[in-house]
Amino acid sequence: MNHLTAEQRQQLIDAALEARRQAYAPYSNFSVGAAVMTADGRVFAGCNVENVSYGLTNCAERTAIFAAVAAGQRQFMALAVATDGGYSPCGACRQVLAEFCEDLPILVVDACPDGQVSEVGLAELLPLRFRRK
Ligand code: THU
Repeated sequence: MNHLTAEQRQQLIDAALEARRQAYAPYSNFSVGAAVMTADGRVFAGCNVENVSYGLTNCAERTAIFAAVAAGQRQFMALAVATDGGYSPCGACRQVLAEFCEDLPILVVDACPDGQVSEVGLAELLPLRFRRK
């Protein structure tokens, strides 16, 4: 796995914070932004998109990874997720990330008040995952 430079790390955090501003979350009022960096250093961002039929909601992390995959990208260096409170990805998003990544550094950003960042690995978040042989 490639390591992020300090500049790439900040770029990814900023992209997640910026994407969070686009969150469509009228039902939960919980805005989430995410950004994934591909192996060649491109950044794809996403936000949560809710629906009046609640179960159709798409999380920010999946929005970001689906945008990257739709652009032909399948190799990822890191993901950042920004929330008010600094929450790590939900179980469904962990499983979707695991489709493409053995392990993945995840930058967990607490958007409020000061953008504090902690780091966790996907393998740590989703041990013994169900995966294709
Ligand atoms: N949400 C995300 O976007 N990512 C997660 O990992 C957890 C939850 C969204 C879904 C919903 O729009 C809102 O946060 C409240 O659950």
